[in-house]
Amino acid sequence: MGGGKPGAHGVRLMTPRARGPAALHRVLAALLGLVVAGASWAQADEARAKKIVSGVCFLCHGAEGESSSEMFPRLAGQHWEYTAKQLANFQSGKRKGTAMGDMAAKLTPDEMVALGKYFEKMAVPAEPAKDSDLAAVGKYVYHNGNKYSGVPACAGCHGPQALGTASLPRLAGQYAVYTEAQLKQFSTRERNNDNAVMHTIVGKMTALEIAAVAQYLGAK
Ligand code: HEC
Ligand code: HEC
Repeated sequence: MGGGKPGAHGVRLMTPRARGPAALHRVLAALLGLVVAGASWAQADEARAKKIVSGVCFLCHGAEGESSSEMFPRLAGQHWEYTAKQLANFQSGKRKGTAMGDMAAKLTPDEMVALGKYFEKMAVPAEPAKDSDLAAVGKYVYHNGNKYSGVPACAGCHGPQALGTASLPRLAGQYAVYTEAQLKQFSTRERNNDNAVMHTIVGKMTALEIAAVAQYLGAK
């Protein structure tokens, strides 16, 4: 009987056997495709971020977020969530900046995340404090606060190493000029994105304490 229709039999027998491995291959290929797509997506994001940075951001923040001068904040080592949030806030006007409104105007949310991840990977340059006595006062305030005036320890939120978390900015290695300016702007509410916490804290600080913590953090 097999001799009558070998072809048909052959096909019927072959199909179920072939379907198993073939289906498995398809699933594996699809999974592999997802992994590869994920990897090339990340690569594409990184390439996109690099292109934006070398197109414009580097002028002020440096190609690796080290910053071209103390006029501009360092972005290297900053948590990507914080960087992306600040960019979104500059774009919406929630955070007013001297230059950043225009810079962030055309960025997409994906690009903001990609830029944040690009800068987070970069090494933070370490420089000694210009005024070590001032930095010593800042070290005290940073770790202990000032119990006589109600200033809390910065370390309580920003961490003992000032490395921050996803929702709290890293402060270590930032230029003292920028940190001091931001603290003053929190106090006057010129910096008004999510400033409730910092506004209250800085309101209790003296000019000396502000300059001192900034000096300490710059060399951290
Ligand atoms: C012309 C100089 C200039 C250029 C170019 C520039 N920035 Fe800025 N950026 C600044 C200044 C100045 C600040 C400080 C806030 C302010 O006063 O605007 C800042 C602040 C920031 C901050 C907030 C940092 C913090 O610690 O809160 C981020 C993030 C940022 N810039 C990202 C970028 C990105 C990404 C680009 C490129 C698309 C860029 N900047 C281009 C000058 C510049
Ligand atoms: C109760 C928690 C808390 C404490 C304590 C605290 N901070 Fe902050 N700080 C924050 C939060 C939250 C932000 C982020 C604001 C935002 O998202 O825009 C911030 C932001 C900052 C920034 C802006 C960073 C940047 O890159 O622009 C500086 C500078 C800063 N804090 C310094 C200090 C110093 C100095 C002290 C101690 C005197 C201190 N903070 C104590 C919660 C805290």
